[in-house]
Amino acid sequence: MFSSNVYSNRRKSLRAELSGGLILFLGNQEVPFNYPANTYSFRQDSNFSYFFGLDHPDLAGIIDLDEGRDYIFGNDVDLDDIIWMGVQPTIKDRAAKVGVEHTAPLTGLNETIKNALDKGRKIHFAPPYRGETILWLSDLLAIPHLELKENTSLLLIQAIIKLRMKKDVPEIAEIEKAIDVAWLMHTTAMKMARPGVVEREIAGTIEGIASANCGPVSFPVILSINGQTLHNHYHGNTLVEGRMMVIDTGCETELHYSSDITRTVPVGGKFNVRQKGIYEVVLNTNLAAIKAVKPGVPFKDIHMLAATEIARGLINLGIMKGDPAEAAQKGAHTLFFPHGLGHPLGLDVHDLEGMGENLIGYDEEVQRSKEFGFAFLRFGRKLQEGFVMTIEPGIYFIPELIDIWKAENKLAEFINYDVVETYKDFGGIRIEDDVLVTGDGYCVLGRHIPKTVEEIEEIMK
Ligand code: GLY
Ligand code: MN
Repeated sequence: MFSSNVYSNRRKSLRAELSGGLILFLGNQEVPFNYPANTYSFRQDSNFSYFFGLDHPDLAGIIDLDEGRDYIFGNDVDLDDIIWMGVQPTIKDRAAKVGVEHTAPLTGLNETIKNALDKGRKIHFAPPYRGETILWLSDLLAIPHLELKENTSLLLIQAIIKLRMKKDVPEIAEIEKAIDVAWLMHTTAMKMARPGVVEREIAGTIEGIASANCGPVSFPVILSINGQTLHNHYHGNTLVEGRMMVIDTGCETELHYSSDITRTVPVGGKFNVRQKGIYEVVLNTNLAAIKAVKPGVPFKDIHMLAATEIARGLINLGIMKGDPAEAAQKGAHTLFFPHGLGHPLGLDVHDLEGMGENLIGYDEEVQRSKEFGFAFLRFGRKLQEGFVMTIEPGIYFIPELIDIWKAENKLAEFINYDVVETYKDFGGIRIEDDVLVTGDGYCVLGRHIPKTVEEIEEIMK
């Protein structure tokens, strides 16, 4: 946990953004896995973590904007709990660690909310995303669960985005800790990528590295020799020479800050000519996009720069043709690079996504496109100092997509379909880093994970 004044200051900053009423944060509950007492690993809600720090189930926090007081609601353990879980600090002691003086049992939460509602006071809450929280909120506020979404507080959402998007020095240190463990996860996976190994042997090993050194993985491990499927969680393939293996993984620190890194390596450790050609295009795109990161630059422009670089590289390889900028403008690159360049990273691996993607990533100046490929860009607006973004270009040969485009002769002025045909067995390549927007540019966070062809071949020797 950070020191108590970090949490007090965060709540103070939040208070400054809103004018009246109560802000209600429900912490997460335990979620059953296959029967009530056998639960998934507990993960606290990120907003609750950010403002109230405590990492235990069944807690609620209230910031009373009119009284200027903060409250934590939760029940102290009883003897039965002590027998199964051991002695636990009281809620009062826990609350003191995050600078909260006022505590009450959970039954007090019902009364507090009822009193506020009776007085017609505004209750601000952020969008819930778990079934348990949706039911809890619905009961507390007497709002049917299907109507919760339209009753969330836009002012609160905007304030949370404003505060959480800008990472301070201790938060950046946490993210770097998570990247340093990702270094071990990735370099281990690279060394294991030998013909005959089954993907799950590697996926399981790196998940263990996360748990042993940090927290859990920050999202289910994406590891596959079928990297043309963007989020491939199937780990049953046996590695064979000639395939590239995509490793997209990261972990959470104890405080829940994440890493999210992707590397792609040739099974067996040596790039063939075709693999090297495509790899260098993705690598050059990754480097060019990182270099363009700077406060004031719309992320959408960096995405377009990446799209142009991918088109340029594929034109050089004879896979595409024409003018790179024009090809990218028309969306011809989306046959090979159909996703967005990146997303914010922090307490959530897609940071703040639960608040609403468009509210985080777009504004009046930069609107989300509806076009194929461009629509997947999660974040388009101008970068600001303190933002942490992933930069993750990729090139994929998705046979099903190629067949459809080819049948329609889609954007044929930019695509050499005959050459593309010969790449249908290629798979995909993605290279992803976590980048801090500094006062005048960028900083690639964490320990350098082998990335060039030479570095990867060296570590896989
Ligand atoms: N690393 C998975 C993603 O960014 O969606
Ligand atoms: Mn990512």
